[in-house]
Amino acid sequence: MSGIDVRPISGALGAEVHGVQLGDPLDNATMDAIHRAFLDHLVVFFPEQRLTPDQHKNFARRFGPIYIHPMVEGMEGHPEIIRVVREPGERTNWGSKWHMDGGFAEKPPLGTMLHAQQIPPYGSDTMWTNLYLAYDALSDGLKRTLEGLKAVHASGAAARYESKYKGMKSKAAEASQAIHPVIRTHPETGRKCLFVNNDFMVRFDGMTEEESRPLMHYLFEHSIRPEFTCRFRWKAGTLAFWDNRCTQHNAISDYFPSRPELFDSPRIMHRITVEGDRPV
Ligand code: SIN
Repeated sequence: MSGIDVRPISGALGAEVHGVQLGDPLDNATMDAIHRAFLDHLVVFFPEQRLTPDQHKNFARRFGPIYIHPMVEGMEGHPEIIRVVREPGERTNWGSKWHMDGGFAEKPPLGTMLHAQQIPPYGSDTMWTNLYLAYDALSDGLKRTLEGLKAVHASGAAARYESKYKGMKSKAAEASQAIHPVIRTHPETGRKCLFVNNDFMVRFDGMTEEESRPLMHYLFEHSIRPEFTCRFRWKAGTLAFWDNRCTQHNAISDYFPSRPELFDSPRIMHRITVEGDRPV
């Protein structure tokens, strides 16, 4: 018996998990229940977590080694943690486009843990989309067309990770890319998902960007249909943990100067990603 309480937040994906402090020593029953909720709901939210950076890293390591972002500087003293900072008056959040994390890597991260430090009084929610549902909803004909197709996912230049954000710093790193299947089989659940990344996917393997664009555009739009998504309203202290192998997410930038209580508030997150495997 783990004692945790899992409460779904939408029909498509996402659940709040109550009754656990992630900084405490967690027994195997509790870890198994958290792991089960993560696989079943794809993104789980743990409210009111009093976690130090070291406790955050320890919890992440229960799921695998920590993935170090090749292009973004980590926190001073904690290179495994990226401080995701949107300073007052900035127009966009880092990660403010539908994407999955590190899709340009040969082995994209298994998952990401985002611990909210400072959050505006309202707004700046994050959305996630369920790529299993996106796959299931395709016609049999399109599923057959996509089976065996691969796509190129490219990081772009390191500067893109800092240029619009005063609080973010990129590393002096070369751009990189990887080729992944368009239909991925999840290594733990065995379910198929539509493995598209609206931000990093640039073309189908063996095709030009121009040739790829119409079908890619269709798949991008399809993958974020409202009925496949959930939207989460943050509070400081919440830790979100999402399965990066079968979801995309988007940190909404609804910072309008006409709402100064939101526009002039900082948004600060601590972000850790866990290493994943090569998509097949
Ligand atoms: C990210 O894309 O990693 C950050 C998402 C967020 O800040 O909500």
